[in-house]
Amino acid sequence: MEPVAPPKTYRVKSFGCQMNVYDGERMAELLGTRGITPALEGEEADLVILNTCHIREKAAEKVYSDIGRMVKAGAQAGKTPLIAVAGCVAQAEGEEIMRRAPAVSIVVGPQAYHRLPEMLDKAVGGERATDTDMPAIAKFDALPARRKRGPAAFLTVQEGCDKFCTYCVVPYTRGAEISRPFAHLIAEAQMLVEAGAKEITLLGQNVNAWAGEDDKGRAAGLAGLIHALARIDGLVRIRYTTSHPNDMDEALIAAHGEVDKLMPYLHLPVQSGSDRVLKAMNRQHTVEGYLRLLEKFRAVRPDIALSGDFIVGFPGETEAEFEDTLRIVDAVRYAHAFSFKYSPRPGTPAATLDGQIAPEVMHERLHRLQERLGHHQFAFNQASVGRTCQVMIERTGREPGQWLGKSPWLQSVWFSGDHAIGDLVDVQLIEAGPNSLQGEPVRIPAELAR
Ligand code: SAH
Ligand code: SF4
Ligand code: F3S
Repeated sequence: MEPVAPPKTYRVKSFGCQMNVYDGERMAELLGTRGITPALEGEEADLVILNTCHIREKAAEKVYSDIGRMVKAGAQAGKTPLIAVAGCVAQAEGEEIMRRAPAVSIVVGPQAYHRLPEMLDKAVGGERATDTDMPAIAKFDALPARRKRGPAAFLTVQEGCDKFCTYCVVPYTRGAEISRPFAHLIAEAQMLVEAGAKEITLLGQNVNAWAGEDDKGRAAGLAGLIHALARIDGLVRIRYTTSHPNDMDEALIAAHGEVDKLMPYLHLPVQSGSDRVLKAMNRQHTVEGYLRLLEKFRAVRPDIALSGDFIVGFPGETEAEFEDTLRIVDAVRYAHAFSFKYSPRPGTPAATLDGQIAPEVMHERLHRLQERLGHHQFAFNQASVGRTCQVMIERTGREPGQWLGKSPWLQSVWFSGDHAIGDLVDVQLIEAGPNSLQGEPVRIPAELAR
């Protein structure tokens, strides 16, 4: 490659899960320490970071089509940006990217991006750079202070996965489970709150596997961390995602009844409603066990909004087994959910199983599942009408004077009035749609206000 001028502007495009969004922010902060600034809206950036996702085939292929588009636009404009591929595709297919996409200068895995500045120096000198090491905790120690502004912030507390579900690439792309130390997390949360965050969502591929020692040296799980975070003044809301049923403990369930700042929302993927399929997926829990867990959450927090992930068309899934998934959906009445067609991923055990399901069958099953899920989501929203709750404003709405925020149950709520981003507004929910609700700010008499 030819040496190029050091980049002055960057753009980070994050795909995939919220952990990638978090990583994207941290990469941006890192570039900031080098005086590289975000490209303005509509402006070509000197450096583009594609922060990629490998979870399903479609997501992974996106990186190559994006690179193709940039090269084409670059040829027309007479200048192609420096291209860096980060994230889980970089980890899984680093060598292939370098082979297939000569325009890429940098390939950096999710555990190595703290070394981005040195890699950038190399790339500017005309040398291609790859780093897909997994140095566990080193990354976080090497990153600069948080600068993130805005009312809702992410905080990665746990990374990696030891579960090896037979369909999933995450254990390979993100490595083994690690927990960041308690003191670092409290410090980062404080930094975020000082920068204006009022809500923090704790992130991890298996966030409830977080384990550490609190400030007194006592063993703590995620519940202990949440209790400690709740003591930070100015932090109003705490959320966490994604949990695994097998890492759930009584203390975390209890925290939902004890910690006001912990929002009444639980994302707990189940993937399938069939015990045979769950076994083939290596989920290591049963439908019954999963439902029992949810009942415990509902017992301490009756209004809790439940969310899940589902895969249709896992190899060998019969029509009857698929119907078991519809049954669990009806039994739980999810407030929200994500659902996917099974995508065979290279290197995972399920990819070579017999009984791969035909695309039309998958398509039809996904359609039926999404109809059921949509029905329950709408019903949950409709049942919320009449409730008064706090909505935290995250952005402006479509019309002037309109605001968009989140209810405690993570519903999108829009309303009008004289407010600002970050405001917590008491709102009565007056009308429900399938994906959002309309609200009306209410004035709480001073003697009743908390
Ligand atoms: N650690 C989380 C999930 C991380 S991946 C958990 O276990 O709950 C997010 C979701 O992507 C998974 O819950 C699953 O529903 C989906 N997924 C993962 N691998 C997939 C594949 N090969 N095909 C289709 N969906 C997949
Ligand atoms: Fe993937 Fe299973 Fe780990 Fe979740 S628990 S990240 S689905 S292997
Ligand atoms: Fe995708 Fe990696 Fe997240 S594969 S879902 S970006 S952990």
